[in-house]
Amino acid sequence: MSKLWGGRFSKATDAMVHQFNASLPFDQRLYDEDITGSIAWARGLQAAAVLTPLEADTLVAGLEQVRQEFEQGTFPFAPGDEDIHSAVERRLTELVGPVGGKLHTGRSRNDQVATDFRLWVMRAVEQLQLHLRDLQQALIERAEVDLSTPMPGYTHLQHAQPVTWGHWLLSHFWPLVRDGERLRQAGVNAAALPLGSGALAGTAYAVDREALAQALGFATVIPNSLDAVSDRDFAADFLYAAALLSIHLSRLSEQLILFSSAEFGFVQLDDAYSTGSSLMPQKKNPDTLELTRGKAGRLLGYLVGLLTTLKGLPSTYDKDLQEDKEPVFAAYDTLCLTLPIMAGVIRTLTVHPERMAAQLEPNLLATDLADYLVRRGVPFRQAHEWVGMAVQMAEQANIPLTALTLAQLQTITPQFGPDVLAVFDFATSLEQRQAIGGTAAAALQAQLARAKAVG
Ligand code: ARG
Repeated sequence: MSKLWGGRFSKATDAMVHQFNASLPFDQRLYDEDITGSIAWARGLQAAAVLTPLEADTLVAGLEQVRQEFEQGTFPFAPGDEDIHSAVERRLTELVGPVGGKLHTGRSRNDQVATDFRLWVMRAVEQLQLHLRDLQQALIERAEVDLSTPMPGYTHLQHAQPVTWGHWLLSHFWPLVRDGERLRQAGVNAAALPLGSGALAGTAYAVDREALAQALGFATVIPNSLDAVSDRDFAADFLYAAALLSIHLSRLSEQLILFSSAEFGFVQLDDAYSTGSSLMPQKKNPDTLELTRGKAGRLLGYLVGLLTTLKGLPSTYDKDLQEDKEPVFAAYDTLCLTLPIMAGVIRTLTVHPERMAAQLEPNLLATDLADYLVRRGVPFRQAHEWVGMAVQMAEQANIPLTALTLAQLQTITPQFGPDVLAVFDFATSLEQRQAIGGTAAAALQAQLARAKAVG
């Protein structure tokens, strides 16, 4: 097994050490970025007159051939390949001869891998944005259909005030907008060029790093070579964005699992998005949602794992940094599954407005009753107490709040007038909340329009 760094060694690497050291099993998915980076580097060396145009052309043609081999699945891996960088260079040299050995002039795998990884994250962000936007779209579509379908709203998972199904759906849309922004920012943070930083101290060749950045789609050049080879903040940013996104998906899942239970019965999952039980024939389980909820734990772990790896590192490149890629790849792969599955769940969900309506009980209007008194000039604190007494009175008589007679209400305060009964209407209650973000029809329409504008 010949190594890129074999010159000063007189013994072959122990087989188990080779396996321990190797990153090829997971970093081969960087092949495209690695080749793109190498082509830019070859051209950079040419522009700096380190390579002749013919040498650079030979390297570029060879690298394109290697890329094709990867794309066609014919790339011949060799047992000695340590990582994607050594595999590509080895193969390149097989294809173009000794000139292949000139590609790595002035470059190190340290600036190379950081470049590849950043390019990969930049692409991954774009791909995730597409999935995310589709899920946002699914939520908007379903919210539009049921924008004014009333349902009980909850705090502490207890009946609180009436809301609508569309309002609830959109409450899960807005966090995803913030996730999109966080992902976008992770992509922006990745777009700073390490290439040309060498192993740690910079490159001894007059390569124009600004031109390199431009050729590779980076917005800036990292100004310090020591920082450039060891900065993995962009990976942590990506994992934070991914973890928080997965936590939002988990919360949405949790609530849909509850709402699809027999006790709620607000929604029903489509057969295509649920699974059965091997023992109980009647079961239809929300496994897709449970897995989404479960995977959020792992995504959080990926973030904490990387941060922990970074925490104790001395300056510049340390091999610990090889541990940076698997969590990022795994987070990406997980979201590439969970986002489209969640979009499918939302699009195919059966909604049962009648089950929601059946849960609309008068106590949900207690706040409206207090607001009624407030409109008559009663200070809110006082109104709150009087309505609390009314709730207690109804509870003790074992009747709904709406069944209290005017005479009974007036034993609490004469401020309750004959028009009080008009309060006990769910549509009226929804319509009361007209300020931005509220449940009134116009406010919901405005919210939907805003969601469509960003979604
Ligand atoms: N496979 C390594 C990684 O992923 C590439 C960089 C190796 N650098 C080194 N000095 N051994 O981090």
